[in-house]
Amino acid sequence: MEPKTILITRRLPGVPFEILSGRFRAGASPPDTAMSREEFLRRAAGAAGILCTLADRVDAVLLDAAGPGLKVVSNFAVGVNNIDIPEATRRGVRVCNTPDVLTDATADLGFALLLAAARRFSEAGRFLREGRWTGWDPWGLLGMPVAGKTLGIVGMGKIGSAAAQRARGFSMRVLYHARHPLSPERERELAASHRDLDALLSESDFVMLCVPLTVQTRGLISRERLARMKPTAVLVNIARGEVVDEGAMAEALSERRLFAAGLDVYEKEPQVHPGLLLAPSAVLLPHLGSATVEAREGMGRLATENLVAVLEGREPPCPVN
Ligand code: GLV
Repeated sequence: MEPKTILITRRLPGVPFEILSGRFRAGASPPDTAMSREEFLRRAAGAAGILCTLADRVDAVLLDAAGPGLKVVSNFAVGVNNIDIPEATRRGVRVCNTPDVLTDATADLGFALLLAAARRFSEAGRFLREGRWTGWDPWGLLGMPVAGKTLGIVGMGKIGSAAAQRARGFSMRVLYHARHPLSPERERELAASHRDLDALLSESDFVMLCVPLTVQTRGLISRERLARMKPTAVLVNIARGEVVDEGAMAEALSERRLFAAGLDVYEKEPQVHPGLLLAPSAVLLPHLGSATVEAREGMGRLATENLVAVLEGREPPCPVN
């Protein structure tokens, strides 16, 4: 029997291309940088399995280009908003992702952003490097306290719950909003109370976004919802940029209707809204949520297992559809 063809769109930690290409037909080795759309469409043709990243759009056009032999799209990410799931499902293509292995890394980064934004790390670092520091200043760069304050978590899945666990170490009161509230036991374990979204936004000193990007969550934090937040509040986004109205957030920061923002994700990555680049109170990271060696190797391992399982006719460890 002809070996199955696979496409790996990029060289990835934990994805053993040489081993895989010994078992499947894998073509040229994956590039070090993101594949262009044209190359993705071209190289997908005839593939039985695709292992891709969140920068690769898997839509009807790509699925057509791959052809009817495609069995699995294994995403090197937990978020699958780059993949048209209903379209894949309609064609019988399994979609898989990489949860769990990146939960701690992402929740750690969320907390790092929370602290950095509250205590003005970006602004303070720039101030020092630019040689503007003339000595200890009792009035200089005062930030917001974290310990004992209220954290509102939007999206209480694995990453949101891991953020709630971290919040306990800072003696924070934890509110959360989720489509499906947790069981009373889990709420007790996490010391978290459910709120509707508007109440959470107006009660919280810190709001952390941990929802997947879906039709329901796109634009969830709209201009009107941002206006519900306290002017002393800090917004942290470790979910997806499209969950927030970025222009409205930049305006709220520049008009000091929001104290600060800690952002890892953007509406049009790798572009960042110019208003955010100009806002001293925005701490901006280049989508680093899962960026530890351990997490990325775990993602690669899981993405590989998902791909191979489906191609061998087994149930994958992390199916999405
Ligand atoms: C990263 O954003 C991921 O979804 O894994």
